[in-house]
Amino acid sequence: MSEGRIDIVAEPDHLGVARWHAVASPGLVAGVAGLRPVVPFECGSPLPAAEPAGTLELSLHVEPQWRRRGIASRLLAAAGAHAAGRRLVAEVAAGSAGESFCVRHGFRRTGSWGHDLLTYCDVHHAWLGELVDVEHPGYRLRHWTGDPCGATSVEQLLRRPSRPGDAVLSAAEADGGLVAYALARSDGARPRRARQYGPAVRAGHRGRRLGLWVNAGLLKRIREIHPHVEEIETRIAHDDPAQLALRRHLGFRPLGRSIRYEITLP
Ligand SMILES: CC(C)(COP(=O)(O)OP(=O)(O)OC[C@H]1O[C@@H](n2cnc3c(N)ncnc32)[C@H](O)[C@@H]1OP(=O)(O)O)[C@@H](O)C(=O)NCCC(=O)NCCS
Repeated sequence: MSEGRIDIVAEPDHLGVARWHAVASPGLVAGVAGLRPVVPFECGSPLPAAEPAGTLELSLHVEPQWRRRGIASRLLAAAGAHAAGRRLVAEVAAGSAGESFCVRHGFRRTGSWGHDLLTYCDVHHAWLGELVDVEHPGYRLRHWTGDPCGATSVEQLLRRPSRPGDAVLSAAEADGGLVAYALARSDGARPRRARQYGPAVRAGHRGRRLGLWVNAGLLKRIREIHPHVEEIETRIAHDDPAQLALRRHLGFRPLGRSIRYEITLP
């Protein structure tokens, strides 16, 4: 089979993800590419740590038997034509074909992430409920659900009415202002998995277990709203002992590291 017989076909957007298929023959998809807006509320300080507006996350996958025939390069060209002038970020395993591919296509390495995974069957739900019920005088826990597309801050999300959507947000407020949050969104490629961002706590409100509170609130809320989600993946850009301790306390386990690559398209 030669790559000359492969058609790159734009698929309808799904949950805000623009998608392309490399079609080898009717019904046979040799590779897929996706572009989704980066959630602009990655964990970090100051809160919220925003990605530049318009950044897109690239996902690419080619079936093993179809690799090294230029298919991913053609999918990237299609995605790139759609996203001219935008910044793309890609997350790849260290030393993988994905890393070689990014280097070959002029992406710059801009950092690495440590990934953790929490599986709901390891969580004691009554204990989670107790964490959420702990009183934090002066603070109020709020939840929001919906589609975060287009929002550039957590405050903006909280001003939107809650409605069915793939994102769930738990936030702590004091005097009506946001002081802590954790957000999760379904992982488009793996419906049983959600991806968590945060928790993040505003300086001046740290040391009061607000991160644990919003994170426990989020885990409980996801279970209620999206019972099909069985595991939560989260990542952290640098070693933060407090975040790590919080995650281990909640039952997150280390999953591995990934490398972040970026390119700004012409
Ligand atoms: C990474 C991946 C998408 C590449 O798909 P592909 O169709 O084989 O890629 P291409 O044929 O277009 O490769 C283009 C160039 O990338 C580099 N490259 C791709 N795979 C490579 C490998 N296994 N080892 C070294 N270089 C590689 C080469 O420079 C290659 O050019 P060449 O074949 O002329 O040497 C595919 O291996 C894959 O699906 N991997 C798992 C998911 C993943 O890592 N995705 C990346 C997210 S951005």
